Amino acid sequence: MRTAFKDGRLPADSERVEPRDALLAQVADLVDARCEAASFNPAAPSVPVSGRVYGAAEVVAAVRASLDFWLTAGPETRAFERALARATGQRHALMVNSGSSANLAAVSALCSPLLADRRLVAGDEVITVAAGFPTTVAPLLQNGLVPVFVDVTLPTYNIDVARLEAARSARTRAVVLAHTLGNPFDLAAISAFCERHDLYLVEDCCDALGATFDGRQVGTFGALATLSFYPAHQITTGEGGAVLTRRPALKRIVESIRDWGRDCWCEPGCENTCGKRFDQQLGTLPAGYDHKYVYSHVGYNLKATDLQAAIGRVQLERLPQFVAARRANHARLSTALASYADVLVLPEATAGSDPSWFGFALTLRAEAGLSRRDLVRHLEGAGIATRQIFAGNLLRQPAYRECVHRVVGRLDTTDQIAENSLWIGCFPGIGEAHVEHVAATFATWRSRLRKAG
Ligand SMILES: Cc1ncc(COP(=O)(O)O)c(C=O)c1O
Repeated sequence: MRTAFKDGRLPADSERVEPRDALLAQVADLVDARCEAASFNPAAPSVPVSGRVYGAAEVVAAVRASLDFWLTAGPETRAFERALARATGQRHALMVNSGSSANLAAVSALCSPLLADRRLVAGDEVITVAAGFPTTVAPLLQNGLVPVFVDVTLPTYNIDVARLEAARSARTRAVVLAHTLGNPFDLAAISAFCERHDLYLVEDCCDALGATFDGRQVGTFGALATLSFYPAHQITTGEGGAVLTRRPALKRIVESIRDWGRDCWCEPGCENTCGKRFDQQLGTLPAGYDHKYVYSHVGYNLKATDLQAAIGRVQLERLPQFVAARRANHARLSTALASYADVLVLPEATAGSDPSWFGFALTLRAEAGLSRRDLVRHLEGAGIATRQIFAGNLLRQPAYRECVHRVVGRLDTTDQIAENSLWIGCFPGIGEAHVEHVAATFATWRSRLRKAG
């Protein structure tokens, strides 16, 4: 409820500007003071894998959006979607509440009845990899599609494109792949393969916002692409994600799937955008049935809120700096760890690409006979956070062991990743001092091994 002035009158807009601005200025001061504190402390070293990197502008935007109290997707969301489309070089961007939801909406869109005989149906095959994040693959299973797993290669951690033709069958309809840890997969080979065989391509760019291939942004090659704004990613809105597409028909389908499956495309708070709200005959519904309650898809509610979008708008302005910082940290780590190439596979960008590195991947060479668990303990003990390459080999995960799928050849490198890989942080919250600590910690690891050996 809005507070009335003493005389019972509601404050006019002009009278309310000042307290609101004063409040936002106070918020900015508070956040500035808090952000100044974060730097490397040699007495208690900490090298996280990821984290929110933000300033006063994000918190002010969130508070401003809270004061507007729109609560669901509204004007901030539309503005964020427009800015995101501009920043990614795509025609349409649709905000959703996570990267997983983005993948679900994108894959489900390919199964839409509105695509007629171009739609994917249960039992159709989709080429993908098992070395990745589970919710790249989960939407395939959720839609009754059959994942066809192809091995990956090191040091890019992406699909082995030499096996694409062997993976194809009469039922193959699409390729769904993530750009692993921000390193683009070979978009030239994959795009040519998809064109040759008339397959849809979905690019999971959740870890790769800002990466390019042949000078072109990832997310602009496939029929659909997805983004995540979870705090670990290149920009954050807390929870959040987006679907990108250049095709108006797919945009409309994704929007419907995101918004309960409805046929109507009125924005929240709007009515009768199509001008025919009570004037259509749809299916066997009564003539003039309210278009707002006509459903063309078995959908979900995957919408995000204006609070998240307001934060996203500010984060997006920082994207070029964020990507540059990730690249600089990745390059520093590559230099600092170059002398371990005899025991560690160091990460390399896919030819023709400029990654937007999500993390710095390492794989212990099998022939070195070293233990990942030992290295992980050593790093974690020194305050250096580690992660494994998500699911490792998805088919070895309890939830996926019995899923209907096909494997092409052997997944030897996928297994190698499950057994011997890890990644450490290169996000903009770390800098030279953190990298020096990483280098020193690897040096103690090696000298310990030498003593033991
Ligand atoms: C490649 C990939 N796809 C999808 C997701 C899911 O994103 P979210 O956590 O926003 O659901 C992630 C999460 O990090 C990811 O790494």
